[in-house]
Amino acid sequence: MREFIIDTDTASDDAAALMIAAFSPDIEILGVTAVAGNVDVRQAADNALMTLEVCGSDAPVYLGAPRPLVRERRETISVHGKDGMGDGDLIRPIKKPAKKRAVDFILDTVAKYPDEVEIVVLGPATNIATAILTDRETMRRVKRIWSMGTPGFGIGNATPVAEFNVYIDAEAYAVMLDSGIPVTIIGFDMCAGEIGLDRDELAALAAGNKAGRFLEKATKVLLQFNLDTRGAHMVDLPDAVAIAAAVWPDYVTSSVACHCHCCTEDNETYGQVLFYQKGRTYESMPAIRDYTAEVVTRVSEQSFTERFMKLLLK
Ligand code: RIB
Ligand code: CA
Repeated sequence: MREFIIDTDTASDDAAALMIAAFSPDIEILGVTAVAGNVDVRQAADNALMTLEVCGSDAPVYLGAPRPLVRERRETISVHGKDGMGDGDLIRPIKKPAKKRAVDFILDTVAKYPDEVEIVVLGPATNIATAILTDRETMRRVKRIWSMGTPGFGIGNATPVAEFNVYIDAEAYAVMLDSGIPVTIIGFDMCAGEIGLDRDELAALAAGNKAGRFLEKATKVLLQFNLDTRGAHMVDLPDAVAIAAAVWPDYVTSSVACHCHCCTEDNETYGQVLFYQKGRTYESMPAIRDYTAEVVTRVSEQSFTERFMKLLLK
């Protein structure tokens, strides 16, 4: 059994990721920690609680950071709806968030299960950075962090050079990258293109079980955003792709070790992450000091949707 903590700013693609973990028999969700990002932290927690209830999971949810580590939250458009889940009045969880603070839960859990806990980071890294700054030594016992973050080797979605999760809190992302914890980065380039759910798959979810119907409703605003902005009748699910890379060992077909630098200066580069790749020579950095993350460069694309639908509609 693999022990997961899922850190999330729960919007519709985060919900799809939670479903993959909840429906994967070899994954134990020790807890879900909510962070402000797509929506405010209480909404993120309620969205996570509702998703877990729909999946029949009793994993606890903890409230985390309401704002980024250092700066005020930057304005962005909301592609998932005001509530992050399609604005269809879906979010009526029975359970409440647990009393313990998210950072305390993370530190207590990693201390209890040293070298066993894998943390999947699906939103801004504010909770993770706060845990590292609070108790660096304990956090070094995290087995691995799986991060949906950065444009990878593609282009950004928040700015041309920054992906949303890093753009909301680049200082936190820098702390996470410099922590010495093994990190695998699944960039936005791995989640763009055709990876997602098309018209037929969304119709199958709508005609399917409770989880399928819930997710189809939760992605309605995201679908409209894709129709309006690029005429595409599909929903892209970056967080679901990221957790697939963590849960399905054969899904990632190649990755590269990189020394990473996260730009935190208050200018147009804010949130950009530079990847100095192992095996390349950079005139500005003749000898790469240390490799701070494994960056995924290829996944078996065609298998995501097929495996996702099978998991959801079984
Ligand atoms: O850039 C995509 C990421 O930002 C996803 O995690 C999405 O949920 C938003 O948090
Ligand atoms: Ca997210």
